[in-house]
Amino acid sequence: MQAVLDYLNQNQPRFLAEFCDYLRFPSVSAQPQHQPDVQACAAWLVAHCRQIGLEAKLCETPGHPIVVAKTPPAAAPRSPGGHFVVYGHYDVQPPEPLDLWQSPPFEPRLDGRVIYARGSTDNKGQNFAHLKAVEAYLKTGTPLPCDLTFVIEGEEEVGSASLAGFLKQNRTELDCAAVVISDTGIPSLQHPALTCSLRGIIAFEITLHGPARDLHSGIFGGAVENPAMALARLLARVRDDKGRITIPGFYEDVTPLSKYERQQAARYPLKDAQLKKLLGSPRLFGEHGFTPTEQRSARPTFEINGLTSGYQGEGSKTIVPAWARAKITCRLVPNQNPARVRKIVVAYLKKICPPTVRMEITAGHGAEAYYVSPAGPLVQASLRALKQAFGAEPILMREGGSIPIVNEFKSSLGADSLLLGLGLPDDNAHSPNEKFSLDCFERGQRLSAFLWPELAGAKQGRLS
Ligand code: BES
Ligand code: MN
Repeated sequence: MQAVLDYLNQNQPRFLAEFCDYLRFPSVSAQPQHQPDVQACAAWLVAHCRQIGLEAKLCETPGHPIVVAKTPPAAAPRSPGGHFVVYGHYDVQPPEPLDLWQSPPFEPRLDGRVIYARGSTDNKGQNFAHLKAVEAYLKTGTPLPCDLTFVIEGEEEVGSASLAGFLKQNRTELDCAAVVISDTGIPSLQHPALTCSLRGIIAFEITLHGPARDLHSGIFGGAVENPAMALARLLARVRDDKGRITIPGFYEDVTPLSKYERQQAARYPLKDAQLKKLLGSPRLFGEHGFTPTEQRSARPTFEINGLTSGYQGEGSKTIVPAWARAKITCRLVPNQNPARVRKIVVAYLKKICPPTVRMEITAGHGAEAYYVSPAGPLVQASLRALKQAFGAEPILMREGGSIPIVNEFKSSLGADSLLLGLGLPDDNAHSPNEKFSLDCFERGQRLSAFLWPELAGAKQGRLS
């Protein structure tokens, strides 16, 4: 192990240069004009995996390719500790709005110990840390105690449409004891964390249709429904003053937080005042009776993500718009069924929709929440590795974000996911000036180095 740690210590400048090469690909999965860049990024990753000693291939899919890279059989003699999959994604969110970036999103900029670029924290830096740790094992000839397969996809930010099918087709090859994922966060470098729960999600769009065309608001306004007004009224009825969603049955299947869980949530070190400052909002607001940590990780939500109607240009235009639209997502928590929640939400919206407009609802993606018991041996082994890598006692936490594919890992491969995030709360994932700290990058490499002996040991322990 010392050889692995020495190798990591000695090679940071080169790792940083390579990380920058990875970040320079504008691998924006959502934007068709970046399709060649996504492809090029995947090809670069395959070449890089081969260079560090992995057996890598590019797997084409109906969408963006998946990179699969395995440790060679000689790297883990007899592989006593079983097989683990390391999952990550090389695709990134669109960088817009560009004018808010202090430097171009695909020209990585180093400022002190922080690197700025789209995809730096979500998720290139996090998956690259694992690759570098495994490189250290392979290049120092240190035997790995288990076999590893990296699965790095290019469609995470657009819903992982191809990966679910890929998992089903490659069940035997990907059969594993657990999936290791670094695609979440930690509260701070002093507080490493294992995430034991993610929220689920349902997405949909509501359109209210009013008059057949935009109308002169002076000539006709007052005598005809305004769809934007109707939509505003409709959406306002979904939440009360106490931040509770008023849709009947919305909370029905939500498992109440136990005393122990509330104690765990209270240990989350980011205080309300810090959170308020971080978010730049005049005031925090959420469902009464729950702390902000609980509100954003363990309670379901109903959010308007986008709202469009009428004239959006400069100056004024006196019209009654023909239609109004809202893009909505609800975050779900463990034990809520996405199909059922979708049904009751749609039923309620239809029920309260006035007859003065015609409502159209289109369904988007959906995924269940995720929960893994912290008591399991592999979770406990991961906590030990976190402690060694960060030199601090790790915390167990729930995260509010979603990684829908973890449910497929469970259903297709029967594997739990070990969520070992490396991002910081102010890393600006999905926002302008996304960043990743080199401290997180280095601790992530150490985490990965310590993780394999711990996981392999726990796996053997459990089998014997
Ligand atoms: N890495 C994030 C998810 C995440 C971030 C989970 C922080 C927990 C903490 C992932 O790339 C992401 O953004 N997922 C989307 C999924 C959605 C599009 C289905 C999300 O959560 O919005
Ligand atoms: Mn993301």
